[in-house]
Amino acid sequence: NNEYIVIGNPISHSKSPFIHQQFAKQTAIPHHYGSLLVELGEFENAVHQFFEQGGKGANVTLPFKQEAFNLADHLTERAQCAGAVNTLKLLENGEILGDNTDGIGLVSDIHRHFSLKTNDKILILGAGGAARGAIQPLMHCGYRLSISNRTQSKAEAMVDEFKKIGSLSLHKEGDSCNDYGLIINATSSGVSGQLPPLNENCLTSATCCYDMFYKVGNTSFIEWAISHNVKDTADGLGMLVGQAAHAFFLWHDTMPDIEPVIAQLRNEMV
Ligand code: ATR
Repeated sequence: NNEYIVIGNPISHSKSPFIHQQFAKQTAIPHHYGSLLVELGEFENAVHQFFEQGGKGANVTLPFKQEAFNLADHLTERAQCAGAVNTLKLLENGEILGDNTDGIGLVSDIHRHFSLKTNDKILILGAGGAARGAIQPLMHCGYRLSISNRTQSKAEAMVDEFKKIGSLSLHKEGDSCNDYGLIINATSSGVSGQLPPLNENCLTSATCCYDMFYKVGNTSFIEWAISHNVKDTADGLGMLVGQAAHAFFLWHDTMPDIEPVIAQLRNEMV
């Protein structure tokens, strides 16, 4: 029986079991990790059943991150800020801790790829769950953040929501700001091969572009960025492995090496 799982719907595409098997091999820590497809409306039952039957930890993916947030008995600060939970851990007293490792996975991947300065300007494209999870960890690093979204009212609501913890500015569609050190695509537009709306004047030879999405070859956003001769680009594969590594750390107190796992995934995707 697996003591660790990833729960989602759909789940068959998930790379988490592969990634966690690599971490187990690498660290020689017993870590049996599988996946569980859960029907909509069944999440809470499924989680309780899993922990009652000897489960120790679970990753949670779409569409259950919000429900995991509501279910957890305790939340880490970063899960509270993100308003979503992607990692559950059974505590010794039988209560469930909810954490969110997506943000730290993103930040560590950005630092792995790009050398940014503390007060650099970063533009986040999108105002859904992925964008929300990125804001606090990036603010925490001292970056000056702006947010832009196809539906501007959602970006405005985000600016309002984060007012109490730091400064987040609104970037309106069409604005031609050219001093962003980094632009992060946190929209799901890449799934359908589309581009998020952004004035091309924002892309300069000093701008790095990061796409939280990844696919075989370049995402449309990265293609577009490269065609405008930006400074550097990276996709979200390293973030995926990074969030998994931080979940592994929460469960086992050991940080695996993500580099060989990213390389292996990249090779297999070709
Ligand atoms: P996630 O949890 O992945 O962030 P989400 O909460 O559904 O998913 O949010 C999706 C985000 O991608 C939203 O910001 C959405 O913009 P809207 O608020 O205007 O819907 C954005 N998005 C999705 N498809 C897009 C597209 N084709 N162009 C631009 N933005 C898009």
